[in-house]
Amino acid sequence: MSSTSASVLKADKIWLDGKFIGWNEGNVHLMTHALHYGLGVFEGIRAYKTADGRLAVFRLEEHIQRLMDSAHILLLKMPWTKDQLVQACVELLAQQRDTFAGGAYLRPIAFMGDGAMGLGAVNPTRVGITAWDWGAYLGDKGLKDGIRAKVSSYTRMHVNVNMVRGKISGQYVNSILAKREAVLAGYDEAILLDTSGYVAEASGENIFLVNKKGIIKTPPLSSPILDGITRSTVVELLRDSGREVQEVTFTRDAMYIAQEMFFTGTAAEITPVREVDNRQVGSGQPGEISRWVQEKYFRVVRGQEEKYAHWLTYV
Ligand SMILES: Cc1ncc(COP(=O)(O)O)c(C=O)c1O
Repeated sequence: MSSTSASVLKADKIWLDGKFIGWNEGNVHLMTHALHYGLGVFEGIRAYKTADGRLAVFRLEEHIQRLMDSAHILLLKMPWTKDQLVQACVELLAQQRDTFAGGAYLRPIAFMGDGAMGLGAVNPTRVGITAWDWGAYLGDKGLKDGIRAKVSSYTRMHVNVNMVRGKISGQYVNSILAKREAVLAGYDEAILLDTSGYVAEASGENIFLVNKKGIIKTPPLSSPILDGITRSTVVELLRDSGREVQEVTFTRDAMYIAQEMFFTGTAAEITPVREVDNRQVGSGQPGEISRWVQEKYFRVVRGQEEKYAHWLTYV
């Protein structure tokens, strides 16, 4: 079962427009422009308890850079610099160190606030950061044993419809339609194809497969996919280990006959896929490469791999 509606821990504080305020004060007006039209950008970032008991945010700079880029794509004027937002994320966790001793999920969001209404309106951008405790996005069992996915009847939008380098609030309606369709049909996650019929990404994750020759493939960044930070982490870890990764398009049936498959994402981390459209993938168990990637990823985020220590920002 999906755990996307998992319990949201009520933290003490949030950061909104430059101020630390109480959780219950984090409200916006009903006339907020983004609420009506979806003009917002956001990030999902995880902080992990490291092996030495500290708290470290994984690839914080890259996430905030993507937030700035997403806003730039939308012509959404950012009232804060990248450095100020990086600092605000760290400070938000530092102020709630005990609450988040075990780890945290950070959600910065920037959106067009209230003022004028209508599609041509340009109102001041509001920026907020919340943090909560979010467990395994596709469930602990999914992380361990793999999940069941279904190719969606919804298509990932064309690159000239979706701004694919942006993590844009309104674009998630497409993801939600696909996710709900899959869950209502009894699957854990949806896989979306692009307008040409090639595999793009899951509703909130990037996709990797290992074919029977042991070749690792993931759709290229010219596909309508988010440039996932976990995707790039995994590509780097695999290539550093001497394995070849091909960034190429592939068809849905390539997944059916794959040896292994896994999803990557900040929320979903490294989640093996054991079945697609009722076809067992490989042995139906997380494969050797999937397990290697998952183990390595968790060692990296927990500060156990010196080589990748530069990806961690300690709180
Ligand atoms: C549509 C989509 N694809 C891929 C990803 C994975 O991106 P990342 O690894 O940066 O979290 C996400 C999650 O943010 C997403 O929402």
